[in-house]
Amino acid sequence: MSWIDEKAYAELARVREAREKQVYPYFKPFESGGLHSSIGGRPVVNFSSNDYLGLTTHPKVKEASKAAVDLFSCGLSSSRVQATTTAHVELEERLAEWFGFEACVLFTTGYQAMVGTIMSLADKDTTLILDNLSHACILDGTFLAAGTPMRQPEVRFFNHNSARSLRRCLRTKQRKNALVLFEGIYSLDGDEAPITELVEAAEEFGAPMICDDAHGTGTLGKGGRGILEKYDLGGRVPVVVSTFSKTFGGIGGILLGSSDVVEHVKHYARSFLFSASLPVPVVAAAATILTMLEEEGEALVQELHEKSDYMRGRLLEIGFDLGKSNSHIMPVMCRDERKALFMHIALLEGGVMMVPITYPGVKKGEERLRLNVTRGHTREDMDKALDLLSSYGEAFFVLGDVELEPLEE
Ligand SMILES: Cc1ncc(COP(=O)(O)O)c(C=O)c1O
Repeated sequence: MSWIDEKAYAELARVREAREKQVYPYFKPFESGGLHSSIGGRPVVNFSSNDYLGLTTHPKVKEASKAAVDLFSCGLSSSRVQATTTAHVELEERLAEWFGFEACVLFTTGYQAMVGTIMSLADKDTTLILDNLSHACILDGTFLAAGTPMRQPEVRFFNHNSARSLRRCLRTKQRKNALVLFEGIYSLDGDEAPITELVEAAEEFGAPMICDDAHGTGTLGKGGRGILEKYDLGGRVPVVVSTFSKTFGGIGGILLGSSDVVEHVKHYARSFLFSASLPVPVVAAAATILTMLEEEGEALVQELHEKSDYMRGRLLEIGFDLGKSNSHIMPVMCRDERKALFMHIALLEGGVMMVPITYPGVKKGEERLRLNVTRGHTREDMDKALDLLSSYGEAFFVLGDVELEPLEE
């Protein structure tokens, strides 16, 4: 065995232990796509999906992808520099217009879009200022920039969702240019950014902002354009990064900004230049969902909100702690790893999938089940989940204040 095998074996101790105890919850293979699927031959309703408008499996979306396979197949065999199609360009133009930006460029994933954007904008004259609960793509873009010779921006964190803390960072920054990064809705806690306050703080110091609106796209604002639409802040946050991997039914990253910024990123983002082009069947799926949003976005978003209001009301009535959530993302706080794992297993036995999020994904004491309500869930799905949650919530002491005895070492 080489040292890499030894290292891997040693560092997988926790995973092995969870598998031995039959509580390992991840990588369970679904046997079909969509919110209603099966695992191991048994039906399951997925409540941890980010298919927020339930459009991923819409027949029109599948038809569009199939037609694109005939014309372009599944791969373009190169990066966008030499593998751009009319489908990419058309969708970029439509997205820019729909979101209300001058320009748009599509990356192969949202993660790459954020990493590439940060890397191409931040240099030694920059202080990057980020929320301390930022998604991995913001952290990784930042750390990559910080570790790259000749770039090495200063890095500052502000307290989660605190405009006061952001102001402090802006006041004490050591480089000429500040760039503020935050998210529209935080994916683990389901809480919205206090965006108006953050924008006001950034504007006082003349600092541009990048908003990662992966979870706000299709869910916030009357027409689903995201957090800027909801708070009428168009034009005040110069760059938005989003994704096709949630509302848009596929995979892919969206960068929105001024023509110059987008053009600059297209020529300097290594995660764009040195990775293959987004496959056209995926572009076609997203283009079809964009048409649905253009035509009936308000009704789709309203339906999602009605469903999530129902679920939130019932969960709170039963007595669940939903942490900081004020959106369709409603973590069921278990605050104990064993409670979260046992709840997950019991729910899955009953045909409901809610993935447990445990340390180090969240701090110890903040373990939870990931519960996302989507427009694709039916009232029956939600009632079934609520019944199971309520029974097992009692059984495993998630409801009430009972703390489990610590395990003996
Ligand atoms: C807040 C946030 N930003 C970015 C991403 C990355 O998006 P993608 O799945 O397109 O890489 C995610 C996905 O998990 C996310 O939750």
